[in-house]
Amino acid sequence: DLDRVLATAGDDLVVASNRQPYRHDYGDDGDVTVDRPAGGLTAGLDAVMRRVSGTWIAWGDGDADATVVDEDDRVTVPPDGDDTYTLQRLWLDDAEVEGYYYGVSNRVLWPLCHAALGTVESCGDAWADYRRVNDQFAAELAAASEPGDLVWLHDYHLALAPQQVRERTDGASGDSTPNRTLAHTWHIPWPSWDSFRACPHREEILDGLLGNDVLLFHVPRYCENFLRCAERGLSGAEVDREAGTVTHRGRTTAVRAAPMGVPADRIREQAGSMEATGFCAAFRKNRGIDRDTRLAVGVDRLDYTKGIVERLEAFERLFAERPRWLGEVTFVQVGTESRSSIDAYRRYQERVEAAVERVNDRFATDDWQPVVYTTDMISNEGLAGLYREADLAVVSPIRDGMNLVAQEFVAAQDDDPGVLVLSDQAGAHDVLGEWTVSVRPHDTVWFADALDEALSMDERERRRRGNALADYVTDNDIESWVGTVLGTVAGLGHADGGVTTRAGD
Ligand code: F6P
Repeated sequence: DLDRVLATAGDDLVVASNRQPYRHDYGDDGDVTVDRPAGGLTAGLDAVMRRVSGTWIAWGDGDADATVVDEDDRVTVPPDGDDTYTLQRLWLDDAEVEGYYYGVSNRVLWPLCHAALGTVESCGDAWADYRRVNDQFAAELAAASEPGDLVWLHDYHLALAPQQVRERTDGASGDSTPNRTLAHTWHIPWPSWDSFRACPHREEILDGLLGNDVLLFHVPRYCENFLRCAERGLSGAEVDREAGTVTHRGRTTAVRAAPMGVPADRIREQAGSMEATGFCAAFRKNRGIDRDTRLAVGVDRLDYTKGIVERLEAFERLFAERPRWLGEVTFVQVGTESRSSIDAYRRYQERVEAAVERVNDRFATDDWQPVVYTTDMISNEGLAGLYREADLAVVSPIRDGMNLVAQEFVAAQDDDPGVLVLSDQAGAHDVLGEWTVSVRPHDTVWFADALDEALSMDERERRRRGNALADYVTDNDIESWVGTVLGTVAGLGHADGGVTTRAGD
């Protein structure tokens, strides 16, 4: 069980992700403001780290001078409550952020892995920043961990770091035994070889990731794609598809699927809180949404992979083709600004705004608005409340590694559940698809029909699906995911010289 697995990991767990779970800013008056970033990854991992009290290394997005840290740049979080772990920030200068985060991570790897090849930009000098920042992470990871520890890396920002950690640690003690166990979860899709072959520096990326003992994706499709890419993209790599392993430079990496979950109990509690109810009442009032108007909800970072424009086109078609929904349902789209210094993101925000305006201009009446669009920050309780209040959630990414909003919506429901409309292009569809109303984001005819089906679903069917979804999301929550990951690592038997071996061993 998880307690046992976590107890084994204990404070020997060292985690690295690009994004930090908290951003502390200190005003002139000494007041601390604590912000949490958008995205379920950091929220989920934070819940885990509170239980194991290890170390989390992340980019210290914000002003280093304005942040109170001890002499080792360590901040103990969260500032409230009893559970703490060490959050260790890596401070990057503007040029590094531009090359490593905006450049390679989000102008190259992000669109490439989402198969948006037309959006991939030139890599240029950014590659040197990416490599250098990865090496800084590797240096911090090597320093924060000890032989025998588990180092757990996250995502596409850190593809080179695993091999760089190896270079810094293995053999450092004079013998050839690999002395850290390295696991890496890749939270976004891994593309087919046909897309990945367009990747600049593709050999180095594969080589970097094969420094891990275990490489994890959310669904088996991505594991298969990775194995194929290793086979085609790295000469000398031996791929055993049946075993799900790649052997390269004398090291064997296990490639496994472990679908991420959400803190389901906490979300359910938040959805039932007074704050949640109060938020929903105020939201309806302030946005002029009648008490009887049904709500559909979408919650996304403003990212071109999320299919928000296509979703709005589907609602437009629904209202045009099925006028009985006019005045009956309002679609609430919550958008969080993201990566705005990249042109593709700024243009996308404009397209979303234009689509909202178009639908509203076409159908709004004096007392009803078809689409309510907000970029306001909403508290976790407010969001959970909105999920519970909604009759349906529309999660329609063009491509998505998992998509935690789908699961958060399910977790927030009570015994009168809403319907989940879900893109068959999301990793979440691989695990939840049979109980959702499926859509393919570019098929507007199908999509509009699906919205109609979801809005018309009879109570019995809605409950049947809602209960099945709730069971899945509860049984496969964030803790269960961590248990799976740690269990997979334990199963490798690294400490006993399991699958990880070096040439000559
Ligand atoms: O999992 C996808 C991901 O890129 C995470 O790594 C990240 O925390 C989240 O989306 C939000 O993106 P960003 O950190 O670039 O704001």
